[in-house]
Amino acid sequence: MIDLPLNRLQPGMVMAQSVLNSSGASYLSRGQKLTTGYIERLRQMGVRAIHVSSTMTSGPKVPLPEDVLEERTRAIAVKRVYDMFQQINEKKTFDPVPLGKASESILNDIMTRKGNLVQLTDLRVHDMYTFAHSVNVAMLSSLLGVLCGLSKEQLSELTLGTMMHDLGKISIAKEILNKPGRLDDEEFNIIKRHPVEGSTLIRSMPLPNAKQLSIVARQHHEHMDGKGYPDHRKGDQIHIYGRIAAIADVYDALTSVRPYKKAYAPSVAYHIMKNCSAGHFDEDLLRMFFSNVAIYPVGTVLNTTAGYGIVRKVEFGKTDRPVVCIFADKAFRLLKKAFDIDFSTTSKDTIDKVLNDTELLHFIHEMKFDPAVLLLEDGK
Ligand SMILES: [Fe+2]
Repeated sequence: MIDLPLNRLQPGMVMAQSVLNSSGASYLSRGQKLTTGYIERLRQMGVRAIHVSSTMTSGPKVPLPEDVLEERTRAIAVKRVYDMFQQINEKKTFDPVPLGKASESILNDIMTRKGNLVQLTDLRVHDMYTFAHSVNVAMLSSLLGVLCGLSKEQLSELTLGTMMHDLGKISIAKEILNKPGRLDDEEFNIIKRHPVEGSTLIRSMPLPNAKQLSIVARQHHEHMDGKGYPDHRKGDQIHIYGRIAAIADVYDALTSVRPYKKAYAPSVAYHIMKNCSAGHFDEDLLRMFFSNVAIYPVGTVLNTTAGYGIVRKVEFGKTDRPVVCIFADKAFRLLKKAFDIDFSTTSKDTIDKVLNDTELLHFIHEMKFDPAVLLLEDGK
């Protein structure tokens, strides 16, 4: 899987992510082959780069990691969040039934998933950030809710609550939300109002459990050490819904493209959240979270002490120790025969670094070899 700028896309490459149009409907689905027409349309939509499964334009398709959510569940949920924002903008209220149904579908997919890990790098959608983000946060939160044993009723509240967590951003100007540079103090103070505004808005809605549903909106920016906002709650004073959503929210924001930043690889997000955010998160929940989220998703190319390799497999609870197919030595020479290392059973070798997309593209160009071919059944 590689993120390619539009001018590098070629007909025949396979989409590794879906693209939604500006009203939340699916325009291109993951797994679809690109054509000249699609590439041109992506350009017109203002898409700058897209994840493709590999740089190959013919031959068998490189398998994409299974998503935790069904494509349809995700697309409908994004549309429902979009509709909610539209309706509130126009009528100051919204019909909660379709959103509730979408929330139940997310939960249902999470409960019935067949051990699929979250491998988010292939799931970015464009032009719909707030809506797609809300759905990802709901998915990641309900997953974490299941892992820590919340009841069915609590899971429903958490999932629906997270779909509405950024509703308070509805009144914030787009120029501030999408500002490419650093926010000044005044702008940041405006942004910081969204938890209170969102929870007030939710409580004013015709929802049976509005008070419980407003918790996520109110508390998702609180930190365990009391340095978050808006209420500076500490530790257990933060509701479990708030502590869960805080992790899901930051993880999804870090791994997404924003006007002011590139998408960080999951391994970078892991490092930032684990090592550079002391006091922010509930550490037990964070550990549980990363046992279910691929730190090195399938298809990630790594520099290891044994040479360069591509992640072939990653398992629940061992997300920092994947199975890697080594295909080149440390001097970038292709091996005659690639071989697997299971990092969960060896202590001899270690992972040094993840190759970023620019490095990977350079590598593919120089070696005239795309390691994604090793993900095919008979790739070796
Ligand atoms: Fe937020």
